[in-house]
Amino acid sequence: MRPPPALALAALCLLALPSAAAAAYFGLTGREVLTPFPGLGTVTASAHGGAHLKQCDLLKLSRRQKQLCRREPGLAETLQDAAHLSLLECQFQFRLERWNCSLEGRTGLLKRGFKETAFLYAVSSAALTHTLARACSAGRMERCTCDDSPGLESRQAWQWGVCGDNLKYSTKFLSNFLGPKRGSKDLRARADAHNTHVGIKAVKSGLRTTCKCHGVSGSCAVRTCWKQLSPFRETGQALKLRYDSAVKVSSATNEALGRLELWAPARPGSPSKGLAPRSGDLVYMEDSPSFCRPSKYSPGTAGRVCSREASCSSLCCGRGYDTQSRLVAFSCHCQVQWCCYVECQQCVQEELVYTCKH
Ligand SMILES: *[C@@H]1O[C@H](CO)[C@@H](O)[C@H](O)[C@H]1NC(C)=O
Repeated sequence: MRPPPALALAALCLLALPSAAAAAYFGLTGREVLTPFPGLGTVTASAHGGAHLKQCDLLKLSRRQKQLCRREPGLAETLQDAAHLSLLECQFQFRLERWNCSLEGRTGLLKRGFKETAFLYAVSSAALTHTLARACSAGRMERCTCDDSPGLESRQAWQWGVCGDNLKYSTKFLSNFLGPKRGSKDLRARADAHNTHVGIKAVKSGLRTTCKCHGVSGSCAVRTCWKQLSPFRETGQALKLRYDSAVKVSSATNEALGRLELWAPARPGSPSKGLAPRSGDLVYMEDSPSFCRPSKYSPGTAGRVCSREASCSSLCCGRGYDTQSRLVAFSCHCQVQWCCYVECQQCVQEELVYTCKH
């Protein structure tokens, strides 16, 4: 028997390697406020069978939200997955900033009107929209399935494995879940609602149409297309850009409508008097603290690892940094062994680590 082509072998071996994603572990205690939607990170039990009712009870939800949760098997788990996803994405996007999205100080931040507050609201609603749409298409929810794209029956979609992510359902559910907007007299409530919507919109604009051919040996006699969400990392990146260009707003009373509106004052020198913020802009009301020192909003930057060329001067806020050398092990001289694994040697290398001084 001839050995399979080298390429196929390499693919096999890759599959056998442990995924790097599995190593991503964040030490959560389970008591953190993960999202602006009242603390969802409180449950560790897994949902099997009737356990989901109990799981809904354990989540810190409003009465109405609890009812919605109980009515939807699979939702409690989706809420937790979403909270986890938003945390990981926030920490990734802010890994090089003074505020690194640590859980310490989260509760304080959510009560203010900083740029960081805006990002938290947006990334949380985006994560929930995304996770729910995916849970629908993956068949993890009882009350929703595939996106109902025209010309493709749900049953066919399942059969062909081309189930579209159900963004329509997830968006509708989320606006219901978050409930009617809080008192419109409150500027912060308006801003929170606006930023929540920016998150949902960011997920929507990442929706793509993907197609697949069916038929004898890929003849493409039948082609089916379905809607697919882009990876959440892309949504996170888009929101981080929105954070960088967030718009400071104040309030203005709309006389005609008799209610308070968000108002972005014009830049100095501009002839216009100001505008309503665009629906894609993150909005904030207060300038952020420096996040250099421990405060009720963050643990400060002491002890943060930085890059000497790039980030140490800004991250350490002028306090300077310590240099340490450490040995790092890595895999080297890897060889493919017949059949089917990769054998590597362990090599050791010295590396300098810079950390911000206290
Ligand atoms: C954020 O920074 C603090 C120190 O300022 C550190 O203890 C924490 O581990 C960092 N979190 C992440 C997710 O990097």
